[in-house]
Amino acid sequence: MKQANTPIAICAGLACLFAATTASADAVTPDKVMFDDLEVKTSLTGAPGDAKAGKKWFANRKLGNCLACHVNKDLANQPFHGEVGPPMDGAGDRYTQEQLRGILVDSKAVFGPDTIMPGFYRVDPGARTAKKFKGKTILSGEQIEDIIAYVMTLKE
Ligand code: HEC
Repeated sequence: MKQANTPIAICAGLACLFAATTASADAVTPDKVMFDDLEVKTSLTGAPGDAKAGKKWFANRKLGNCLACHVNKDLANQPFHGEVGPPMDGAGDRYTQEQLRGILVDSKAVFGPDTIMPGFYRVDPGARTAKKFKGKTILSGEQIEDIIAYVMTLKE
């Protein structure tokens, strides 16, 4: 579900100030995520993700950039697969949705503070994260749910 960003106009005389609402459409904001034994049980949006969209985020260099670190046969047509992290092939067999949500939301909580994998739904994603993401999450809850749905399709 997409929630339109509604511009609010505050007018005094002829001068109007426009402010876009930045309220997130995600049901669970980053500070409200509940970890339960390294898993996050409930969808961040309250709805299941879209695997087709998730495939796009997975390969997107500016967003998930998962391919920079994870080989994935399903995206063999895309160049530059990194091998820093384990291959994603068969990840849908090895993990449950709840475990994947934990890894994606906060890799540091699952793998420890020294992992180079960014925490994609933390306001402080990690030391190696681009400056533009400081104070923001790298992915939205909706994108995380889409990526979970996609990774669940990666079966051996
Ligand atoms: C900067 C590199 C990097 C990026 C980017 C990255 N990861 Fe990772 N990922 C890792 C590393 C390294 C590990 C292994 C855990 C560890 O030891 O730190 C890992 C582990 C995982 C695991 C567990 C795999 C297993 O078989 O144990 C999953 C699932 C995963 N990543 C998914 C993703 C997804 C999905 C994305 C994109 C949204 C992503 N990662 C982006 C580096 C990365």
